[in-house]
Amino acid sequence: MKYRLKKTVVLVGMMGSGKTAVGQALGRLLGVPFLDSDNEITVAANLTIPEIFERYGEPFFREKESQVIARLLEGGPAILSTGGGAYLSGDNREMISARGVAVWLRADLDLLWSRVRHKNTRPLLRTADPYKTLADLCERRQPYYAKADLVADARADYAIEEMAQKVADV
Ligand code: S3P
Repeated sequence: MKYRLKKTVVLVGMMGSGKTAVGQALGRLLGVPFLDSDNEITVAANLTIPEIFERYGEPFFREKESQVIARLLEGGPAILSTGGGAYLSGDNREMISARGVAVWLRADLDLLWSRVRHKNTRPLLRTADPYKTLADLCERRQPYYAKADLVADARADYAIEEMAQKVADV
């Protein structure tokens, strides 16, 4: 099947839902550029995300995140992967719906945990009980992600290419 993308597909959802890996595969599948807001922020700051949080705090990160998303949405159709907190902001949601289509990569807590538990790259999970923190974030954020235009269910047994195809088909 041939797809012709008219708008940027913006992947939203929790950390560990596969936004980056699926986004890359989707970019290849649809023949459009893959963009990643977290990556743009870290390259511009020449710091990792935990370093940005430590040095400048989360509000600074959120401000940069909004600026980067606004800039990336100005280009032609692409796949844009956003950080897990980006879609919580009403301003970000407005920008995204004006220029793109938001797709929530929905994944259950077990899958998310299996993917993030051994990584130390998520500052929000640097707590005494990261599983509980992840569960709380997941629950609190669900109503925001549910505002996305489309939902694609991530599953542990899907290969990345298969998941990208599911997103292309929603
Ligand atoms: C965050 C998720 C991260 C990154 C930052 C904050 C969040 O991105 O933006 O650590 O608030 O959930 P991923 O969703 O790509 O892990």
